[in-house]
Amino acid sequence: MQAEKIRDNIYWVGAVDWSMRNFHGYETRRGSTYNAYLILDEKVTLIDTVKHAFTAELIDRIHSVIDPSKIDIIVSNHVEPDHSGALLDLHALAPQAIIYTSDPNGLKGLKGRYGELPYQPVKSGDSISLGKRTLSFIPTPLLHWPDSMVTYCPEEKILFSNDAFGQHYASSKHFDDENDFYIVMEEAKKYYANILMLYGRQAQTALKALASIDIDLIATGHGIIWRSNIKEIFDAYQLWSTNTLEDRAVVVFDSMWHSTEAMAKEIAETFTEAGIPAAFHDLKGDHISDIITEILTSRYIAVGSPTINNQMLPTVAAFLCYLKGLTAKEHKAFAFGSYGWGGQSIAQIEEELKASGCEIILDKQRILNVPSEDNLAALRKAVHEAVKG
Ligand code: FEO
Repeated sequence: MQAEKIRDNIYWVGAVDWSMRNFHGYETRRGSTYNAYLILDEKVTLIDTVKHAFTAELIDRIHSVIDPSKIDIIVSNHVEPDHSGALLDLHALAPQAIIYTSDPNGLKGLKGRYGELPYQPVKSGDSISLGKRTLSFIPTPLLHWPDSMVTYCPEEKILFSNDAFGQHYASSKHFDDENDFYIVMEEAKKYYANILMLYGRQAQTALKALASIDIDLIATGHGIIWRSNIKEIFDAYQLWSTNTLEDRAVVVFDSMWHSTEAMAKEIAETFTEAGIPAAFHDLKGDHISDIITEILTSRYIAVGSPTINNQMLPTVAAFLCYLKGLTAKEHKAFAFGSYGWGGQSIAQIEEELKASGCEIILDKQRILNVPSEDNLAALRKAVHEAVKG
């Protein structure tokens, strides 16, 4: 395994996880990377590590340019084990290395996970000299955990951003302009929606803090390094973190005997005819992490389920649980479903949508048994009036 040079005396020494398909319920069809960076200066410095299973790969890559026992400094931007998982092994190889981490949450998190090591907690604005280069630390709490921080090297204009601006995307090419831009942006949006959507306010604070620094490279913790599209990813984060919604709809449902599905089709068609493009997601096949990615920028959400054992279908419950966790804030929504007896699921969905912060723009849409033409026409009229007034 070889280190890959990204600048003179700065190397990518991370790992590509081609096989990872699930990150805490987020479906990662394109795998991921755990990016770590080695700076050869008077003080040899490692920025972040990798998931524990990839430790040998990290050490091998470091070894290709320098003996790992010569590392003087390790910067741990984030405690989560996909970035800190190799710390104990590196400490065993380089016991003199000082581990820089945020004060107090990084220190608390690393101590709790790895015990006493030579930590040096840092606060906003603290900086250290590596010799020719300096590193300064900028806290970015909740991007993605309370301990998260980013590290900036002004001489190189490199921002080591850890989770921020990342993507779960495995590639042997490390820069944005060496990969398909649309795929990278799609994965960046999916990453933001599934990992950071809840923390829009904190993302705004971080963007303001980063606005005044000159950045040539964003060396992320996952996926590609931004070099040619820095403005594009900053602009996208600006939109996503301010809940900027488009006039689009997401229709999400599961169905037992196609009646709720027929309602979903009618609803999607009505949105589209009203000039609001609608995405159509059957939860039997579509993954909640893809649906939440569309919801990030869509104003309308319609959620449907029939009733089974006095409940909504478990697929719908799982989706609503995920939505509530990531929160929808300013979306407009309604519930629908066909039913045979009690039809409790539809009221349950409406309550969950309210609990997610959605504004209910249309009362529960319920149809007994198989929808008739008249039923569907009434549904169409109701949806049209709700979205067009
Ligand atoms: Fe990539 Fe929050 O860890």
